[in-house]
Amino acid sequence: MILAFESSCDETAVAILAPPRQLRASLVASQHEIHIPFGGVVPELAARRHMEVIVPLYQDALVEAGITLDDVTGIAATCKPGLIGALLVGLSFAKSLAMGRNLPFIGVNHIEGHLNAVHLEHDDVPYPHLGVVVSGGHTEFYIVKGFADYQLLGATRDDAAGEAFDKVAKLLNLGYPGGPIVDKRAALGNPKAIRFSLPKMSESSKFGIGKYDVSFSGLKTAVALWVKQNDITDQPLSADTINDLVASFQYTAVEILMRSVSQIVTDHNLPAVVVSGGVAANSALRKAMTDWGIQHNVRTYFPSMKLCVDNAAMIAYVGSQYLARGVTSNWDLNATASGAVGILT
Ligand code: KG4
Ligand code: ZN
Repeated sequence: MILAFESSCDETAVAILAPPRQLRASLVASQHEIHIPFGGVVPELAARRHMEVIVPLYQDALVEAGITLDDVTGIAATCKPGLIGALLVGLSFAKSLAMGRNLPFIGVNHIEGHLNAVHLEHDDVPYPHLGVVVSGGHTEFYIVKGFADYQLLGATRDDAAGEAFDKVAKLLNLGYPGGPIVDKRAALGNPKAIRFSLPKMSESSKFGIGKYDVSFSGLKTAVALWVKQNDITDQPLSADTINDLVASFQYTAVEILMRSVSQIVTDHNLPAVVVSGGVAANSALRKAMTDWGIQHNVRTYFPSMKLCVDNAAMIAYVGSQYLARGVTSNWDLNATASGAVGILT
């Protein structure tokens, strides 16, 4: 029975997993309301809220799972990447519990969690496959050759996909987090109303691959420019125009992602794509990816909504797999702000 903690950003989460995939509890305490006035996550406030919430949430998880700490056989916690103060809360609590109970402990990479969330609901995901992580902090493309065997092929060169959704929503005063709001508003608009162009990617990149990289800052700037030109003081944008604008933005953001997905799958002849992270909850992306998969005979997998966004179930899954292989972390494991899987694990 694996107990897991996730506190890398603005969700405190605790899960209890009977491996391989029987989830006994998966609780998420979101702090969105604290950060709404700031239009983004305030790291210091996030850390403080994690501290208030983590013990009661852990107690609730034990009750929901119908177990006590005596039944737990291993403990996992997210150790990277994320906000340091936030990560330290879950990591320190998990380490203390494990040390006090003499239980094996493992620190888990949050991205590796997203890449593996799909296995909690599917036991037929083929290897190798393309793993796409699209969240508020990350946009990365991996060839996943097996458990703990990841090859980074491309990433965003600037904003993460979710960050672009959040920034466009902020620009239009639609609220925070922007992704789900833009998704809803876009469903009411015309995705072809405004034409935004796709970024031109040069071959070089920080990962030395380049051709599969994506970029969202140009699109975000194009939206801002469009607003500047069209949002005239005595004639503010109508709700319908905003719907069209966010639908057009979302359409282009999905196109940007699909362009890399389609290139990678073709070049590497992969049989399946797994999409994860908060933006995997996006309805336009899910539809575009599913339709594309059917057309090209490529299997596409999305975790269910609750496993797309941040959660501790995915951390429990990865932790349980490492612990089953006898891999544990040292007691001096620290939190780290950065860390793509396959590079720093
Ligand atoms: O994976 P996640 O919960 O946290 C990070 O690790 O970043 O992802 C949160 C991100 C936010 O940027 C949020 O706006 C975005 O995922 N998001 C969405 C949707 N739901 C969440 N973006 C687009 N459409 C959605 N339906
Ligand atoms: Zn995440």
